[in-house]
Amino acid sequence: MFFSKTFIATAALCLSLSLQANAHAAVAPALGVKGTPVRNDVQRPSKNSECGNVNIAQTIDTSTAVQAAGNGTFAATIINFNAGVDGSRQVTALVDPTGTGKSFVSADVLQNGDKNPSNTGSQQLVVQLPSNTKCSGGASKDKCLVSFTTVSGFGNCVVVQQAGGSSVSDSNTNASTAAPAASTSAAVSATKATATAAGQTATQASQGAQSTTGSLTAAEKAELEKLLKELENKLGIREERGSRAARTVRYAKDA
Ligand SMILES: *[C@@H]1O[C@H](CO)[C@@H](O)[C@H](O)[C@H]1NC(C)=O
Ligand SMILES: *[C@@H]1O[C@H](CO)[C@@H](O)[C@H](O)[C@H]1NC(C)=O
Repeated sequence: MFFSKTFIATAALCLSLSLQANAHAAVAPALGVKGTPVRNDVQRPSKNSECGNVNIAQTIDTSTAVQAAGNGTFAATIINFNAGVDGSRQVTALVDPTGTGKSFVSADVLQNGDKNPSNTGSQQLVVQLPSNTKCSGGASKDKCLVSFTTVSGFGNCVVVQQAGGSSVSDSNTNASTAAPAASTSAAVSATKATATAAGQTATQASQGAQSTTGSLTAAEKAELEKLLKELENKLGIREERGSRAARTVRYAKDA
């Protein structure tokens, strides 16, 4: 059977993104995570633990913080590791102005992601902190925690900072026009940097796959093909299948 290199590369990329623990979408920049979050960084936020297993006190000051604009909006990037509702990019958001993880209230998501994405990838989220929110967490006493949960129960917290210690005003005033523009462009740059890093990883994985598939034996190709079929049928890969896929990818590398 004919095997397109692009198909193999794409499928190998999907495999590589699916080989870790069972979890399906993360929001960057994630609390307690350096760089772009991977599958293992995904939490299951719950009522008594909205940031999952992450130690908030130990990470709030070392995590990348998103700057909130003067009107209380901020942007973050959701990355899903599975297609479908399992890897939903549609979220709800809660904010804890104290940054302790103990007093969350709900926040509006102005721009949301796809509920049932047909692919893996990333989308920008825009959230509105509630009126009069005053972030007071972290050593600088100007950080909020925002907990994101997807439709399928995955997610994590993100640190949001209010530059200049201002609280969210009820309406835009002329005094707040200049500074928010600067912090928004910083947030946009951060988001772009995250997306670019993910894109580079994807490209490298894809190139690696293309350069090795030429030397696969027929048996290896057959196994890879079988795995890819499964992958197509169900993008959610379980641990057990993941390790078989990892072996196949190793064969490809060794060949
Ligand atoms: C700034 O605020 C003043 C008074 O609230 C208003 O009259 C003026 O039009 C505003 N200027 C701008 C540029 O929004
Ligand atoms: C909030 O401010 C940002 C930056 O100035 C702007 O892009 C956005 O449209 C504003 N959003 C709302 C809801 O006013």
